[in-house]
Amino acid sequence: MTVRIGILGAGRMGRTHAEVLAQDERVRIVGVADADAGRAAELATRLEARAFPDLEALVRAGVDLVVVTTPNRHHGEAALEALGRGIAVLCEKPMATSLEEARRVCAAAEKTGAFLAVAHNRRHAPVYRHVRRRIDSGFTPFLAHMRMHEGDYRTPLWVSDPAMSGGFLYENLVHFFDLMEWLVGPIGAVSCVARRPFYEDLNDFVITVEFAHGPLGVITATGHGTWKLPAESTELVGDHATIAVEALDRVRCASAETVDLEEASGLTPEERWGYRDQDREVIDALEAGTKVCFSPRRALRTLEIADACYAAAREGRPVRLAPPPAD
Ligand SMILES: NC(=O)c1ccc[n+]([C@@H]2O[C@H](COP(=O)([O-])OP(=O)(O)OC[C@H]3O[C@@H](n4cnc5c(N)ncnc54)[C@H](O)[C@@H]3O)[C@@H](O)[C@H]2O)c1
Repeated sequence: MTVRIGILGAGRMGRTHAEVLAQDERVRIVGVADADAGRAAELATRLEARAFPDLEALVRAGVDLVVVTTPNRHHGEAALEALGRGIAVLCEKPMATSLEEARRVCAAAEKTGAFLAVAHNRRHAPVYRHVRRRIDSGFTPFLAHMRMHEGDYRTPLWVSDPAMSGGFLYENLVHFFDLMEWLVGPIGAVSCVARRPFYEDLNDFVITVEFAHGPLGVITATGHGTWKLPAESTELVGDHATIAVEALDRVRCASAETVDLEEASGLTPEERWGYRDQDREVIDALEAGTKVCFSPRRALRTLEIADACYAAAREGRPVRLAPPPAD
């Protein structure tokens, strides 16, 4: 079976998914749609596919899977439209720009026969898979510190407009909210202080996390750092042992006696960031009639945590969260 694919949004991530998927012999990229006809044409030509103005035209061309890589505000409507027509969806994060819309997408994705994968690529990144294996073989985190200090909250331009992105936490921190629960455990409560230097949207955050089973976490995030240093890092502290993840490049696992280094910097960016394995898992699942490891409910959960952080910042008090979904 050949999976016929349409790309909706021919920007940076549209190109990335298209190029990764085009290397998979089980797929054929049928078309590229973008609100900017020049961008659609340029990517379509590179992929030897057809260019279209919108989702409607892309769907009419006959596709099995739509890859949604538009600015965030259009994710929910595109996913609902495609799912409603029985077409599978791989949607970039965040799954929507409001909880209400995300719940509707989730409900549509849970109907019999529907298929939705939300691109939380860090679960597929070799560094985080390595950390997960360490945890599975006995490392227990008691303290988690994650840092996302990005260099420019204007690249691309629309990201600093909360009406387009859903806000800084939806755009940037959904990855970390998921990693916190995947690596440490269910989050029970969050506290948050936030500021807005340089941009109108809140873009400096200090978030403290209380995990339901006791451990603590901290996330610091900003949109006005520099790209010259690793923009993100993670540290998990265990019983006199630490796991440190530097960007998506390497992991250091240190105890009193040893330091082990797991190096991923020699991989291609698509491998290092998990895009290749993530997109391959989507095609595997479509072929086998199964689901991907990251459920729509998990994607919704990341937005519930983001909203809890916004509420905690607004109200100046910790906000409790209901338990996460089981998977
Ligand atoms: N998972 C990751 O690591 C990662 C990294 C970067 C971005 N992203 C996500 O990928 C998505 C795209 O980001 P990007 O950096 O590629 O943005 P981008 O601005 O480079 O590309 C977006 C494209 O969508 C087009 N577009 C805008 N509105 C449209 C519409 N209604 N219909 C069709 N096309 C439309 C634009 O013309 C543009 O070509 C965002 O949701 C972002 O959050 C994910």
